[in-house]
Amino acid sequence: MRIAMIGTGYVGLVSGACFSEFGVDVVCVDKDSSKIEMLEAGRMPIYEPGLENLVKKNVDAGRLSFTTDLATAVASADAVFIAVGTPSRRGDGHADLSYVYGAAKEIAAAVQGYTVVVTKSTVPVGTGREVERIIAETRPDADCDVVSNPEFLREGSAIEDFMRPDRVVIGTKSERAEEVMRELYRPLYLFETPIVFTSRQTSELIKYAANTFLAAKITFINEIADLCEVVDADVQDVARGIGLDGRIGRKFLHAGPGYGGSCFPKDTLALVRTAEEVGRPLRIIETVVDVNAKRKHQMAEKIIAGCGDDVSGKTIAILGVTFKPNTDDMRDSPSIEIVAGLQAAGADVRAYDPEGMTEAKEMMDGVIWCEDAYDAMTDADAVAIVTEWNQFRALDLDRMKDLLSEPVMIDLRNIYNPDEMAQAGFHYVSIGRPATLSAPA
Ligand code: UDX
Repeated sequence: MRIAMIGTGYVGLVSGACFSEFGVDVVCVDKDSSKIEMLEAGRMPIYEPGLENLVKKNVDAGRLSFTTDLATAVASADAVFIAVGTPSRRGDGHADLSYVYGAAKEIAAAVQGYTVVVTKSTVPVGTGREVERIIAETRPDADCDVVSNPEFLREGSAIEDFMRPDRVVIGTKSERAEEVMRELYRPLYLFETPIVFTSRQTSELIKYAANTFLAAKITFINEIADLCEVVDADVQDVARGIGLDGRIGRKFLHAGPGYGGSCFPKDTLALVRTAEEVGRPLRIIETVVDVNAKRKHQMAEKIIAGCGDDVSGKTIAILGVTFKPNTDDMRDSPSIEIVAGLQAAGADVRAYDPEGMTEAKEMMDGVIWCEDAYDAMTDADAVAIVTEWNQFRALDLDRMKDLLSEPVMIDLRNIYNPDEMAQAGFHYVSIGRPATLSAPA
């Protein structure tokens, strides 16, 4: 089995490397020649745990290669995956499908023999039909089936998610295409991975429904956390108390500064637009989008409140700027608005992130970038934890107290224990946990 993966961004690169690990011959294609050169030299364009080793192993085994030559890769492929970006279109929040349609045209011009064209990019319902139309228009003689096969990879654990998924979703009504897809995912039968075969448009919608549901779940617990703060309840116990109900489930109930990243913000918005367009507005998701957007700004206010309602002339240490740990991705990270909010209120910001600083430097002005967490806290008036990297979970509290001008911590990820922080003499503010447990400085 041979496949071509069009687009070596996050999804394409991880999926391509994982398919090659399954024993499939994979050619990853990208227009960006510098990216291809980098990959050929064994360097990764993104940070993802385990990816570099997986790529190297499969390149060495001769199953994985990289090229800018789409036509040659497509011509010899049994299946061609479209894994190009679908960013939010500026202004209206619709998914920008120009890269998907562009790829479809190029693929159509190059296919030889029966080929399954698989959309892996997250695309609105109906995109598969349009890809099919483009292929038929460009090459009326092409023998292709267009299939939807959304990804459910979390950044930071994408390889594990690909290798041991909760499920695989495949949208096609073609038996020939189904056979090719079954063959590609055969290694997963060993783990008895459920494979959901359905129609193409249902598969396209499953992806959006999954992401918007998860975004709603996070937003729900974030609002419950805000309520907890006022009624002196503990959101972590609420999350456990409801999460143990099998119908609710414990995952995705960590209150925090609001969801970010490359998927949830753009996918929630895109589904809202699709639903509006067909006259079936999704009021819950509209509210989720709105509440999450406001939350990021509220987090800056929370830090300011934790600093005695005034940060003018103060220095705040920010630990973590990526939207979550184990990634260097800064897309829609809450830190962007938090830092801007603090600066607007007159604060200086010293920040440290284990992987995200290169990208963050391009997006944030006036931040002093530091060597490590302790460097960031040196002479700062307060420290705020924005991303829950493991290395921030067990900081030396005595050393911190020596470094900080004031022992103030605003923990937007609830990774410290309020009692222990109070005992250590910190003014400790977290999300949705009783303020009575923490002692003032
Ligand atoms: C997500 C989906 O999980 C994945 O299936 C899809 O394919 C792509 O989008 P990802 O963006 O990598 O993956 O991140 P995820 O781990 O889902 O977290 C998204 C955001 O939600 C992060 O900002 C994270 O901090 C936040 N989050 C997550 C919470 O605030 N609380 C939680 O309980 C879980």
